[in-house]
Amino acid sequence: MASTSPVILILGSGPNVGQHVARAFAAKGYKVALASRSLKEEDSNADQIHISADLSDPHSVKGIFSKVKASLGLPSVVVYNAAAVTPNNPEDPLSLPLADFSRDFHINTTSAFVAAQQAALSFEELTDHGSKTFIYTGNILNSTTMAPLLDLGVGKSATAHIIRSAAAAYSNRGFKFYYADERKADGAPAYSQLNGDAHAKLYVELAEHKSQGPWQQTFVKDIGYKHFPAA
Ligand SMILES: NC(=O)c1ccc[n+]([C@@H]2O[C@H](COP(=O)([O-])OP(=O)(O)OC[C@H]3O[C@@H](n4cnc5c(N)ncnc54)[C@H](OP(=O)(O)O)[C@@H]3O)[C@@H](O)[C@H]2O)c1
Repeated sequence: MASTSPVILILGSGPNVGQHVARAFAAKGYKVALASRSLKEEDSNADQIHISADLSDPHSVKGIFSKVKASLGLPSVVVYNAAAVTPNNPEDPLSLPLADFSRDFHINTTSAFVAAQQAALSFEELTDHGSKTFIYTGNILNSTTMAPLLDLGVGKSATAHIIRSAAAAYSNRGFKFYYADERKADGAPAYSQLNGDAHAKLYVELAEHKSQGPWQQTFVKDIGYKHFPAA
């Protein structure tokens, strides 16, 4: 049954970024919808629903939004956090098998594109008071290359383009689109020190801010948004 509480949908929700973002928005009064492969729908409750979904199939994304709308209501914040990489031979990146490239591109980009489409349709239907914010968890690979990570870089770069385009096109309708990228204070990638809490803090700020800020949200734990020159 749809409620009057605002709703956040997190696609690709796991123990780090996903769980921290879910807890932070729940503390702000949001109902939470989580989607990932290992979630069990029977673990859902009145405040948080779990949707079992594999984002390597972009056609599954519309159904995820339909389930959220039917059980909690239209999402006013959508976070796309799933990512996939198949490490390639650094000296022969073009040897990556097409099947791996294609599956990972679906997870990193095509499903994120469908999620942004569905988010915009949802934002269109919401009242003026909704947050209307779409956030894609990125990394530094939209602005540099790393030899063994070709398909992750292709996916992050392509989705950064989608986010940048949408941020420009929809800001006059009050919709906000962001590419979030945690860095260390010197601008280096966060890598394994990726901090779920720092993501949650930034994502709440972006959702609460009334208008579109810089589409590329490079940020540092305990500091927040920080611009870095392209790597
Ligand atoms: N800035 C940096 O330096 C940096 C470093 C590392 C990562 N990152 C980014 O951070 C994000 C991940 O953060 P995290 O691992 O901490 O998040 P998390 O919320 O702990 O986990 C992400 C979840 O995505 C789900 N997922 C993966 N593939 C999926 C698929 N095909 N379909 C549905 N769900 C899928 C997985 O759950 P299931 O197994 O249940 O599907 C996984 O647990 C990624 O976007 C990654 O690129 C950035």
